[in-house]
Amino acid sequence: MIPRLIASALVLVTFFTATTNGQTASSAQPAATVNGYEPTWWKEAVVYQIYPRSFKDSNGDGIGDIPGITSKLDYLQQLGVSVIWLSPHYDSPNADNGYDIRDYRKVMSEFGTMADFDKMLAGIKQRHMRLIVDLVVNHTSDEHRWFVESRSSKDNPYRDFYFWRDGKPGSPGPDGKPTLLPPNNDPSFFSGSAWQLDPKTNQFYLHYFAVKQPDLNWDNPKVREEVYSLMRFWLDKGVDGFRMDVIPLISKNPSFPDLTPDQLKNIGKAYANGPHMHEYLQEMNRNVMAKYDVMTVGEALGISLEQTPLIVGDSRHELNMIFNFDAVRFNRDGLKLKPFDLPTLKAIYTRHAEGLDTHSWDTVFLANHDNPRLVSTFGDDTPQFRMRSAKLLQTMLLTLRGTTFLYQGDELGMTNYPFKSISDFNDIEVKNAYKAKVLTGQIPEATFIADLRTTSRDNSRTPMQWDASPQGGFTTGPKTWLAVNPNYKEINAAAQISDPDSVYSYTKQAIALRHAHRAFVYGDYKDIDPANPSIFAYTRKLGPENFLVLLNFSEAENVYKIPGSLDAGALVLGNLPTSEHDTNTLHLSGWEARVYKLK
Ligand code: NOJ
Repeated sequence: MIPRLIASALVLVTFFTATTNGQTASSAQPAATVNGYEPTWWKEAVVYQIYPRSFKDSNGDGIGDIPGITSKLDYLQQLGVSVIWLSPHYDSPNADNGYDIRDYRKVMSEFGTMADFDKMLAGIKQRHMRLIVDLVVNHTSDEHRWFVESRSSKDNPYRDFYFWRDGKPGSPGPDGKPTLLPPNNDPSFFSGSAWQLDPKTNQFYLHYFAVKQPDLNWDNPKVREEVYSLMRFWLDKGVDGFRMDVIPLISKNPSFPDLTPDQLKNIGKAYANGPHMHEYLQEMNRNVMAKYDVMTVGEALGISLEQTPLIVGDSRHELNMIFNFDAVRFNRDGLKLKPFDLPTLKAIYTRHAEGLDTHSWDTVFLANHDNPRLVSTFGDDTPQFRMRSAKLLQTMLLTLRGTTFLYQGDELGMTNYPFKSISDFNDIEVKNAYKAKVLTGQIPEATFIADLRTTSRDNSRTPMQWDASPQGGFTTGPKTWLAVNPNYKEINAAAQISDPDSVYSYTKQAIALRHAHRAFVYGDYKDIDPANPSIFAYTRKLGPENFLVLLNFSEAENVYKIPGSLDAGALVLGNLPTSEHDTNTLHLSGWEARVYKLK
């Protein structure tokens, strides 16, 4: 049962959300700064990421599609999110599930048609939400027309759309013929060399990701014009911006020197921030973004916090915000999960608050399609604490600084998948790593699978669990492209929507709370107990409004004395019933989360 105090606070915030989804509130505000920030809709947004392949299938082929998304727009509106980020929906041979684009102006046939897309977009707008789409322009598919032309001959007009280089002479092969080695030692993120020899012209092309994902040459002005043109195509349709895939990698050093042993330890960093990155982002902004009211968020692989203001600073005219990887990967070591250490995570958020001023906006996220499930990675997905810790994590994501990005299914507390063998995986990154590490005897198979069970991207790509019917209601067909998590009978949307105690209902309340109080968006952030190993305690203060967030990141009960002379005040949100308020000493249960409004 929800205690009366919480219930009444929620009635208030739900009222705001029901009418605004966080949108009207922002547009009604005068342009004056708020706590030094210029208010904008994208700063106030709560973004929900859809991985279309796994969201909802409408035609029984076992693959999610756009009509499926359209059928769930009411669900998203009721949840209260204001912006949808759609992972790639473009025509693709799916070497990397759509992150390898064959035609930027066509919808992937498995997902539907352009008419389906237009209908979905209209449905999103009707519900006062917005849509951003994925912009994947560091590379294309090798089946893109530009690459098909490019590889056909050395003097093709498209040759210079990609990076082609001669190999280095290697020792003779078994047949005595000379062999060629790659032009340098750049590795691919997906195992092996980043260079692929193309027999047609006997030169190598660059692919930082899969062999089927050749990197575009942004130094060619024609490439940049093509990219700006396709961006305008989608903006003119009415989309509200872009999530930009691995955008810091677009500028390369064309002489491709070998990476040093140190650089090889962090190739994301080595490949990011090339000589013309800022110049190209500013040009893109002038040519495209400046002409529309859009939101841009860059996936900033390899960009440090110190470098962040150079991309997102207001006066830079590049991007609105980026995803730094420091928090989402803080407990990761390659394929392995490291022990969770709360003070380390807290220190990251403090560094962000101190390192980014009011002219550099931030993001907050801990999950997406490239990372394992939120509750399994940062919470406790055992039956006893799964729901509670999932709610705690949503409390945190929705009360921290920066635009919140939620990933599909986390609002239900969906968990990692019990992978047993390599055949359970779909991800090309895993399959390539298996060949490179397991089949060569570098890592025992059992260790590899055990590690991937906690860190694989496929954990978050299993189909959405809509109800308790076969395949979790994701499809009416007999098969799904990736197996549904066997826990769908217990964890599914239908069971949660009408249950006031569900993770879904709680997430809805937390979103409503954020939309109702600008302190969570523009307020100052202060960690009031940074060294505490199990309690995350922070305030968000904007003018007279001051909120205290308390999160118990452990299963142990904690008698917690709030540091300083603070009294908790009135409870506005909590994941367990409690009558404690207006007091300095609290009894927090395992994984309990509370938000108080301070007097
Ligand atoms: C980052 C994307 O998020 C990921 O899914 C993809 O594999 C790579 N970029 C390559 O596009």
